[in-house]
Amino acid sequence: MRVGFIGTGSMGSILLDSFISSGALQPGQITASNRTREKVLKLSQDFPGLTAAVDNAEVVQKSQVIFVCVKPLEFKKVFDDIIPWIKPEQIVISITSPILLRDLEKQLPCKAAKVIPSITNSVQAGASLIMFGNRCAEEDREWIHQLFSKISSPLEIEEAYTRVSSDIVSCGPAFMSYLLQRFIIAAVEETGISREEATFLASQMIVGFADLISKGPFDLETLQQRVLVPGGVTGAGLAALEGIGDVFNQVFKNTHKKYNMDLQEVSHMFYQEKK
Ligand SMILES: NC(=O)c1ccc[n+]([C@@H]2O[C@H](COP(=O)([O-])OP(=O)(O)OC[C@H]3O[C@@H](n4cnc5c(N)ncnc54)[C@H](OP(=O)(O)O)[C@@H]3O)[C@@H](O)[C@H]2O)c1
Repeated sequence: MRVGFIGTGSMGSILLDSFISSGALQPGQITASNRTREKVLKLSQDFPGLTAAVDNAEVVQKSQVIFVCVKPLEFKKVFDDIIPWIKPEQIVISITSPILLRDLEKQLPCKAAKVIPSITNSVQAGASLIMFGNRCAEEDREWIHQLFSKISSPLEIEEAYTRVSSDIVSCGPAFMSYLLQRFIIAAVEETGISREEATFLASQMIVGFADLISKGPFDLETLQQRVLVPGGVTGAGLAALEGIGDVFNQVFKNTHKKYNMDLQEVSHMFYQEKK
């Protein structure tokens, strides 16, 4: 299967790198383009055999599956470039949440899917979220699922839950590193431990925690119970954590508010001329 990437910025290059380093794709299968061509030329040097396309049309002409890895409001320009070349049997995969499957299928005369990756996929870990358009055949679904299972634990979701699922899978690493950073800063401020030492200890704790969660036997609830000795120190610390109140409710409220604004902008981008 020949695979194309349009947009090799942060996420496009992470995906491409991860597919190659996991052995899921060979560089010779890949054609990529980017608005600023230097980025894609660099990738072709890093991965000999990868084709650095001169434009987006070349990617479409040389690929059966095409990942579009640009920001939401950059899609229209990409679609204008590729529509003359796209064929019904090709599959276009968007990696961004506010581009809806129904819009992909309305805009493009081909098959469409949406996959939301995570930065954790760069180390072949974490989940990815998959949604298929109506035109995807069973073998397309299987191929995409297989591809992502080489770099992640893929989960097919309903599009209605794209935002909350992406918040957990894709924004989650930023949220959790922020919390960990606050944990470290507080340790330094309250006790005078060095930042380096606190960072080392916290990072090792998180690595071990992730291992425990992924390998079992603990779920989150039992893990807390095992550490929480009645009347002990952990309980005293947890009592302060109760103070976070509804902060995570607010996180999801904020992301959904921004998402709804993005959806409106995307709709305007695609349909303003047709209204
Ligand atoms: N970052 C994450 O963890 C993550 C996770 C899941 C999904 N996503 C989604 O992935 C999308 C891309 O995010 P990102 O962080 O990778 O953004 P980014 O670093 O800005 O990458 C976008 C790339 O697309 C290129 N581009 C823009 N318009 C183009 C066009 N017409 N033709 C060809 N290339 C074009 C840009 O080229 P230039 O070099 O000229 O700017 C840039 O390199 C976003 O919608 C985001 O929601 C991101």
